[in-house]
Amino acid sequence: MTDKTPLLFQPIQLRGITLPNRIVVPPMCMYSAEEGFPTDFHMAHLGKFAIGGAGMVILEVTAVTRDGRITHGDLGIWDDEHAKKLAPLAAFLKSEGSVPAIQIGHSGRKGSMQRPWKGNGPLTPEDIAGGDTPWQPEAPSAVPLADGWLTPRELDLDDMKRLRGAFADATKRAVDAGFESVEIHCAHGYLLQTFLSPLGNFRTDAYGGDLQGRMRLSLEIAEDVREALPDNLPLFVRISAVDAIEGGWEMEDSLVFAKELKDRGVDVIDCSSGGQTPKGATNFKLNRSPGYQVPYAAEIRRDVGIMTQAVGLITDPHHAEEILQAGDADLIAIGREALYNPFWPRHAADAFRLDEDFETWPPQYGWWLDKRAQGQRAQARG
Ligand SMILES: Cc1cc2nc3c(=O)[nH]c(=O)nc-3n(C[C@H](O)[C@H](O)[C@H](O)COP(=O)(O)O)c2cc1C
Repeated sequence: MTDKTPLLFQPIQLRGITLPNRIVVPPMCMYSAEEGFPTDFHMAHLGKFAIGGAGMVILEVTAVTRDGRITHGDLGIWDDEHAKKLAPLAAFLKSEGSVPAIQIGHSGRKGSMQRPWKGNGPLTPEDIAGGDTPWQPEAPSAVPLADGWLTPRELDLDDMKRLRGAFADATKRAVDAGFESVEIHCAHGYLLQTFLSPLGNFRTDAYGGDLQGRMRLSLEIAEDVREALPDNLPLFVRISAVDAIEGGWEMEDSLVFAKELKDRGVDVIDCSSGGQTPKGATNFKLNRSPGYQVPYAAEIRRDVGIMTQAVGLITDPHHAEEILQAGDADLIAIGREALYNPFWPRHAADAFRLDEDFETWPPQYGWWLDKRAQGQRAQARG
């Protein structure tokens, strides 16, 4: 590595953990777990990203309680047995050079819904007949997401105490399982973002009302998780920087929230958006063009002085590098593009001509690909 090495491929230290590059595979739910346990699919799915060269791989949102799942196919970490089954995933990611991380969360009023490819809405009689028994979701207020969605049960103060314990226990289990970073899911219309947003939180007690009240539970959980996480391991929080709906959460709220999170020892703000709508996890009202959420990461990074992760339609390695060079973010998340091409990081290195001899590839592949390239070069020379 030289001074000329693109930032994208320079290591970055987060507390005691060093990522070999700044490419992160963000959490992506596969809805393929069984009673919260990972399946072979998860190993194949996540393993590809580590072999593909990502600096960090964040496991999909993993529910801290059984009722905190979005669907019956969600991963869970509400029991020690889950951690035992997650441990081989963390170990494999690490063995291939990626930092293993996990997102923990609770679905809130989006709990008990269909897997996306079944309709991405509330469960239908057909889904229920197929075995997806519904449960009552939980939320700050007993207000459904939209017409036709289940009415959630309003959480009381004891519930919230239990929930805080569940996030702390989930963190300890994640560490025991070998994960080196935890991300708290405070985005996309799930429980914690519904507490944050005035579009979902209609409480009149200390956990609702003004911004301080709406932030309270997330900040308490951030404190609990930080305490449960060893000092040398970094803590991420994913936020929806804006609701992008009138009367909703705004960028100025995110700046206050990020500052409070920083004061509680959060290391990275992962800047997404939207979710307080029934249409999928994020908000279709935003104009989605390449890097459309980068301005949120940039503003939070500059204004609050905290590391940020940019995410959302970043697919071109040179664009990723420009974002880092501009100081708009510290980490680049590659989501659906990594589903399309799990070797994105290695191909990005190729785009910068960093590893023409395939030396950074796993030797099981690299040795052969180097021979292949030599053959191709010889053929080109005639
Ligand atoms: C299949 C799939 C599942 C997702 N699951 C999660 C999740 O568990 N937690 C989360 O915060 N975001 C989730 N997301 C959002 C992604 O992490 C990412 O923010 C989004 O796809 C935008 O980035 P991209 O344009 O690079 O894909 C999911 C996205 C996809 C495509």
